[in-house]
Amino acid sequence: GLSNTRDMFAKAMSGGYAIPAYNFNNLEQLQAIVTACAETSSPVIIQVSKGARNYANQTMLRYMAMGAVQMAREMGSQIPIALHLDHGDTFELCKSCVESGFSSVMIDGSHLPYDENIALTRKVVEYAHQFDVSVEGELGVLAGIEDEVEAEHSTYTKPEEVEDFVARTGVDSLAISIGTSHGAYKFKLKEGEEVPPLRFDILEECEKRIPGFPIVLHGASSVVQEYVQLINRYGGKMDGAVGVPEEQLRKAAASAVCKINIDSDGRLAVTAKIREHLANNPAEFDPRKYLGDARNELIRLIRHKNEAVLGSAGKG
Ligand code: G3H
Ligand code: 13P
Ligand code: NA
Ligand code: ZN
Repeated sequence: GLSNTRDMFAKAMSGGYAIPAYNFNNLEQLQAIVTACAETSSPVIIQVSKGARNYANQTMLRYMAMGAVQMAREMGSQIPIALHLDHGDTFELCKSCVESGFSSVMIDGSHLPYDENIALTRKVVEYAHQFDVSVEGELGVLAGIEDEVEAEHSTYTKPEEVEDFVARTGVDSLAISIGTSHGAYKFKLKEGEEVPPLRFDILEECEKRIPGFPIVLHGASSVVQEYVQLINRYGGKMDGAVGVPEEQLRKAAASAVCKINIDSDGRLAVTAKIREHLANNPAEFDPRKYLGDARNELIRLIRHKNEAVLGSAGKG
């Protein structure tokens, strides 16, 4: 069956790598994740957002996840697979996911006042732990894409809060904000400007205060430029899309960061390949053809992440 994240994180912590957490909303994405992770023998967290749940139906997603485990086993792979709720925003949503068989949930109270974040997170932990479901909390707010640099600074995780938060909530892992953001436009760069480095100093301060405790990095897509270029070449418009350089993700994976969340890169791969396929095959109308192309690219992308960026390949 599905695994919770406890063992995965313990091994990632001592092994100096990170577990990939890939979002999925549909069949082809999930097939690609399972195929690539089974082939590279990587433990994996498959995660669904509230939006995914609304798009695909929570029951459907849960059965798909169970099917994913079965598919991996039939491929001869014993990799652990966790089904995780990404960015749960209420106790009721987390409870509903626990009830329906998720093995891990995130309660994201990061936008709340500190004490309210603690109270809400604590409530989810007390409920989820009865069922051996792991809980991820968050401190600090990831910058929105419209935020100015000044606003981003005020929302970095405060290292002086992490020890108290972890102790008072009982969470199993903690997402922090060190300069990443969600989506494909993570940094507003002027002409010739380079992507600013993540705030590894804040990460290190957090690690010092909660030694050996699993940290989670959200907003960790690299925004692969080959995909952005393909999208732009075949009718799309994604000027200025930029993400976190792989070298910084490698550095994060080697630290106490035990879970790295990737969604946007997969979306870009799928969109790039569908646009390319349809542009080059204007008479094609069988979705299996262009979705198959997209799925193959997603497999390549995930293999690469596991093998060359997160270091999770061979750890399953
Ligand atoms: O945290 C954001 C994830 O990429 C999920 O995105 O809410 O559009 O499904 P979504
Ligand atoms: P990206 O948008 O960088 O892929 O981040 C995904 C994420 O953090 C999901 O929780
Ligand atoms: Na790590
Ligand atoms: Zn996130």
